[in-house]
Amino acid sequence: MDIKVAHGAGAPVGQAYWNPDTDNELLCIDVHPETPDVKTFTFVSKDGKHIAFAAGQYFAFDVGAGDDTETRCYSISSSPLRTNAISITVKRVPGGNASNWLHDYLAPGAVVQANGPLGQFVRPMRPNQKYLLLSGGSGITPVMSMARELADMTLPMDVIFLHAGRSPGDLIFRNELASLATRLKGFRLYFLPETLTGETSWSGLNGRISRELFQLIIPDLSERVIMCCGPAPFMAAARKISAELGVTPENYIEESFDAAVIEDASIPLAEQAELKSFKVEFARQSRTLDVTSEQTVLSCAKKAGVKIPSSCSNGLCGTCKSKLVRGTVDMKHNGGIRQREIDAGFFLPCCSKPLSDLVIER
Ligand code: FES
Repeated sequence: MDIKVAHGAGAPVGQAYWNPDTDNELLCIDVHPETPDVKTFTFVSKDGKHIAFAAGQYFAFDVGAGDDTETRCYSISSSPLRTNAISITVKRVPGGNASNWLHDYLAPGAVVQANGPLGQFVRPMRPNQKYLLLSGGSGITPVMSMARELADMTLPMDVIFLHAGRSPGDLIFRNELASLATRLKGFRLYFLPETLTGETSWSGLNGRISRELFQLIIPDLSERVIMCCGPAPFMAAARKISAELGVTPENYIEESFDAAVIEDASIPLAEQAELKSFKVEFARQSRTLDVTSEQTVLSCAKKAGVKIPSSCSNGLCGTCKSKLVRGTVDMKHNGGIRQREIDAGFFLPCCSKPLSDLVIER
């Protein structure tokens, strides 16, 4: 899919724009706490360029220091109509190297490397389209970008925003969303904390998403495009309920970070015996694994504890890009690698199955 980005609405003609192929340095200009474990980081291009992107896209950031640098994808939470800066909103994950480094060390004035914008989680632009923006936890970031874009556009809209979180205090962008709902006609907001811990006076909905809840508050669900982002179990529930209530697959769109990393690593042993198996060597880590012709290199590497940075597991983000020293693979990518990189011997282990024994520079 071709993503069309709004090139700098309101920006002066002749303004320089960030080039995703050659620009990769972002300067942090602000860090803002949203909830006890969520912060928003705002960046500008180090060279002062405007950054064009579509709401729902993300950047792959190099996070950490020295040998511990890892690549992580973070969705942009700011409006694509404000191209002077981009924001990402990150939840601190216990034991998560990248999110802890960002929370503990990233401060205004720091320069980070980032590739993007990337990704295809973009709402279909159809005239008079009704939307349900549906998010769980920190999955709110790409749909918040969409809500901010719709608010900036000031066009008539029919949008329901449903955001689920652990407790009322964990609801990200709570005040801003409440104010948008007050100000914008055609923008209806529901918060859905799972528990009322810390705020027993909460008078709104609580619990988890369910078929009954959707029938009650979104009776026209099947007429809406659903843009969903959240933890994998949340998205699985949303997908199931939406299908049961008549939403067609093309109208249910979800962001897939980390959703399917080891989806195919658990082929039953009996079936594995029937499949062709290849030796896959990770040269730097001195490890060799057996990978069948039906398994992706990344899924087997993860299962065996071989380190390959990854994020989307879908051939989209380019995070897992690796050098293939020897062998051939069947790669079905989604735009996360360029032809010139393939020509130079690189491949994406998350969407590649072996066609021969392999040696990988990892
Ligand atoms: S993890 Fe995103 S392209 Fe492989």
